[in-house]
Amino acid sequence: MTSTTIGNSMNQATASTCRNDLLLRALRREKTPRPPVWLMRQAGRFDPDYHAVKAEANLELEELFSHPEYAAKITLLPKRLGVDALIIFQDILTPLTPMGAPFVFRPGPVLEKPIRSRTDIADLKIFDPSVALDFFSKAIRLTLAEVDHELPLLGFAGAPFTLAAFAIEGKSPGRELNHTRALMQSDPAALHDLLAKLADMTAEYLKFQIAAGVHAVQLFESVADLLSPAEYQAFAHPYHQRVINQLNADAPVILFIKEQPFLELMVETGANAISIGRCNDLGLAQRAYGSKVAIQGNVDNEILRGGTLDEITAATHACIQAGNCNGHILNLNHGIFRDTPFENVVHFINTCRNWVSNEESAENLASSPHSKM
Ligand code: CP3
Repeated sequence: MTSTTIGNSMNQATASTCRNDLLLRALRREKTPRPPVWLMRQAGRFDPDYHAVKAEANLELEELFSHPEYAAKITLLPKRLGVDALIIFQDILTPLTPMGAPFVFRPGPVLEKPIRSRTDIADLKIFDPSVALDFFSKAIRLTLAEVDHELPLLGFAGAPFTLAAFAIEGKSPGRELNHTRALMQSDPAALHDLLAKLADMTAEYLKFQIAAGVHAVQLFESVADLLSPAEYQAFAHPYHQRVINQLNADAPVILFIKEQPFLELMVETGANAISIGRCNDLGLAQRAYGSKVAIQGNVDNEILRGGTLDEITAATHACIQAGNCNGHILNLNHGIFRDTPFENVVHFINTCRNWVSNEESAENLASSPHSKM
């Protein structure tokens, strides 16, 4: 891709319509003939073509993220599978680098000097994303130019608590939040300062992605499952609200919370869509909240990884039925596992694309000549 294509794509970036607008319609809680489908972590390691691009690039992961041409190329890979939305190839940890807390991937994320004291928090820099993360807006524009209004592109960010947990632990929190909990107990005000700083940064960071042309954004609260209800209410929920309030409805927001029961609180944030886990019942969620938010989810990523094709069909059909093609976005409970067979992913997407609702098949039956016999 040349600098000319970057220039052309700048004009396109402002357009928000797509020929395949299933996702945008579902985000407006409209009825769709079938739900739009995409997968969390679709631009990644389950895909042999991703490994091929990575091998060709021969770059460290953080360098791959900051390389606009490769980032756009990887973002576009899932298009050949028939997904209804793309998600930009970046990482939730990207904005921590210009704050002064740079992560490298060896292979998991590592931060040389974790953020643990009041001084560390005060030293985190406020930055202008359009200057510090110029490569990211370039990757968005290159992707949009290539996709040429066919599909919507999602931007995203880590939710403040998830970012704080990575910054404080200095690595993936895994099942432990030792240092984060220590700060929660010894100096909750310092943790709140960090969360507020991260929330305000995240709002600017998402606005920057929206200005570059993404059609919707997702906020990932990926460590929510490690929190008690009281911790979730004190340290996670208020900062979802703080981010979403600042976005002023510039683009639809999907709030992803990993395996927690707090749908009511999620709806209260003002998010346009909530992404739910396998611990949540999609049909009940639809009935309780479907008039206020679109709902994304929630086929079990373990079934996609280990199930037979028939089991995947059954889980996908059950999910589509529960979502009722009414403001429902088909996705997993969480990110796709790296060892998920490629054919399972293709089968999951095709099962959705071939879905014919009961209503539609009844109509077809009524209008077919055989039905009059
Ligand atoms: O397809 C997509 O979802 C878009 C790209 C994307 C990546 N990271 C690329 C990536 C997205 C949305 C993320 C978000 C992300 N990053 C989250 C939240 C998402 C979630 O599933 O909850 C988190 C917690 C991270 C942090 C992170 N990045 C970890 C812990 C790791 C290493 C282990 C892992 O899960 O892969 C990464 C690396 C990373 N980010 C890879 C990719 C494709 C793996 C790359 C590789 O090893 O080649």
